[in-house]
Amino acid sequence: MFNRLKVTPEAIEAIKNFSAPQGELVFGKVMVPVMIVSDFDNGEWGPLEMIPYGPISLDPTTKVLHYGQEIFEGMKGYRTGGKGPFLFRPEQNFNRFNFSARRMGMPEVPEDLFMEAVKGITSYCADFIPKRSGESLYIRPFMFATEEHLGIKPAGKMKFMVIASPSGAYISADYVKVKIEKQYTRACPGGTGNAKTGGNYAGSLLAAVEANKAGFHQTLWLDGLHKKYIEELSGMNFFAFVDNKLYTPKLNDSILDGITRNSIIQLAKDLGKTVVEEVMEIDWLLQKINDGACTEAFMCGTAAIVVPIAEFGDLSGNKWVLPNNNGPVAFSIKETLLGLQEGRLEDKYGWVVPVETVH
Ligand SMILES: Cc1ncc(COP(=O)(O)O)c(C=O)c1O
Repeated sequence: MFNRLKVTPEAIEAIKNFSAPQGELVFGKVMVPVMIVSDFDNGEWGPLEMIPYGPISLDPTTKVLHYGQEIFEGMKGYRTGGKGPFLFRPEQNFNRFNFSARRMGMPEVPEDLFMEAVKGITSYCADFIPKRSGESLYIRPFMFATEEHLGIKPAGKMKFMVIASPSGAYISADYVKVKIEKQYTRACPGGTGNAKTGGNYAGSLLAAVEANKAGFHQTLWLDGLHKKYIEELSGMNFFAFVDNKLYTPKLNDSILDGITRNSIIQLAKDLGKTVVEEVMEIDWLLQKINDGACTEAFMCGTAAIVVPIAEFGDLSGNKWVLPNNNGPVAFSIKETLLGLQEGRLEDKYGWVVPVETVH
């Protein structure tokens, strides 16, 4: 089943000695007892190995610690209703991983290395994938610069790894209040906003702290140049249902091309909705909320799936409240997407990829 992946006897032992977490699961806290590692050096990828989960030791001059040359992905393995394990559109994560790698001046990973790593951890840890609907194995592939040298140059040495966590809901709230961010910028034209690299997230944290202090759950990022057009949230894409049409900001180089976003566009069309991908002015949206023409808004991403937005606000105390906290559009899209991911609905696009289990 695996040509490239080598599973060490210590990894097998670690799996044997591990018990799946019981009870309510939080997101990304408990990790499966193994991890997958491959090192890049001298222009080549070395062996791909599954080893016991544990700390990694780095020299203090390791480049990632200083210059942030790092990328990651987020994907899920499902095993509900006696079915699975399944991965959802893993080739999209592979493509985006290499897109991020190119943008960050890093080597690409070969397809068999990425796929055997994510399928390997899903397969060997299948018994630890939670079986309740809404829970899953959150899988985190990542790569970082391991060269030891303080010069600001792209590193010649990299480490690729995959870890995984049996996880519950990413956002436990039924709906969120969103702060329209007018002060800080997440990404700008020509920057790295459309790559999944740590710096984008680090740069958003202060805004998140301030938004939370002011009573908001999330930050809605506007375009970096004019602070006029809606882009996305810190870890999710944005949709609004306006005049009976589903709107989402058109992609550009400061928005992450979300796999959930892309899937929702297709599923919403299948559900008979008109989908508009267009530049979206924040003032237009707020006016549409005031007029009652915008009936729902929601955010979406792999971890959280679909989360309705109840309210937009700013630091001056202005509020724009949506009539539907859990509106019919967000609800039907979430049910359809989750039904597909969990193998309950017909998969007409071939998005659901079964993974063989190893016993
Ligand atoms: C900044 C950002 N936008 C959007 C998304 C949603 O992307 P996806 O649906 O592929 O998880 C994510 C999560 O990966 C993200 O980090």
